Amino acid sequence: MRLNVPLIDGDELAEITAVLASGMLTQGVRARELEDAVRAVVGTPYAAAVSSATTGLHLALVGLGVGPGDEVVMPAFSFPATANVVVQQGAVPVFVDIEPDTFNMDPRLLEAAITERTAAVMPVHAFGLCADMDPINEIAARHDLPVIEDAACALGGTYRGRDAGSLATAGVFSFHPRKIVTTAEGGMITTASADLAERINVLRTHGAIRGELFMEFVDAGFNYRLSDVHAAIGVAQMRKLDHILSERRRLAAALSERLAAVVGVTPPSAPEHISHAYQSYVVRLADDVDRDGVIRSMRTHDIETTLGTYGMHLQPYFVSRFGESGARFPEATRAHRQTLTLPLYPGMADEDLELIRAGLTASVAENRRDPAPS
Ligand SMILES: Cc1ncc(COP(=O)(O)O)c(C=O)c1O
Repeated sequence: MRLNVPLIDGDELAEITAVLASGMLTQGVRARELEDAVRAVVGTPYAAAVSSATTGLHLALVGLGVGPGDEVVMPAFSFPATANVVVQQGAVPVFVDIEPDTFNMDPRLLEAAITERTAAVMPVHAFGLCADMDPINEIAARHDLPVIEDAACALGGTYRGRDAGSLATAGVFSFHPRKIVTTAEGGMITTASADLAERINVLRTHGAIRGELFMEFVDAGFNYRLSDVHAAIGVAQMRKLDHILSERRRLAAALSERLAAVVGVTPPSAPEHISHAYQSYVVRLADDVDRDGVIRSMRTHDIETTLGTYGMHLQPYFVSRFGESGARFPEATRAHRQTLTLPLYPGMADEDLELIRAGLTASVAENRRDPAPS
């Protein structure tokens, strides 16, 4: 059983075939269509299709003027692309610890991480669950800082009734095949700022502005465009978004019910005012369970699992830059070691959920660590 199987059928194939037949392959009308579809869901006036969430996050930083020597505050627990783009700008990622229940940035720790060099705050909506944006925005506003939502996993997730991607200065989604909808590789930046949207638009295409006959290069930009071949896949995927989200939520609830009685496993939870998109279904294993052993045991049951996501501060690059800092981020460190992502995707049957329950029950029992000698 795979971790995720994208919901791809004849629709995507027909859309791709139409683009290939048109001969217009690079960014054009299909990317505009995908942007319109995302704007309609997220509710922002602007959306820009890009080649990945990583390039989208990078563009948002450049568009907001984050540069060498600046600091960007983010949770320690995320896919390292969140921090890498900051490093690529010559800026410094400043980690803060997470809340143990939501796996998101702990807003109570944000203020202390802000310095005179801070140029932006970048909360991550872990696994499709929005970070606690009200206090994050409030603290950022007090320091006059822009906020970029890393909403890579959170298309369709909501916070107090408002959509991920519309909760801050800019939001960035991923269309990688493990995300809510896919374009193979791809991403989308959303914003309500006309100025930022314009800068991103220019930077996305080599820093160029199109004149009557040819382009004029007003900035040293990038080629971060999403092609129309990829966008066409996304257009078909967006038509299925409501179905994908309701299935992910239904399956997550059903799986949580089955796992409730499994000793040593805590299913994911969401605060009342946040609607989880369940891009990933991530459980926490008790501290006396060897998570890596569980991943290996689940393989023998033919069930793919992986860690939740990464304690970025524990990765070799960041250790080499900032030194050992596990003790400074105890919750992110624990989440890095004890979280487990289980398969979840539309089309799973009750029998699949039962296979996961049975496989996990056995795997956890097989991988209890010996109690420490007293
Ligand atoms: C939180 C987060 N941010 C950024 C990314 C990068 O997304 P992409 O693969 O589209 O560049 C990911 C991908 O897994 C992610 O989970």
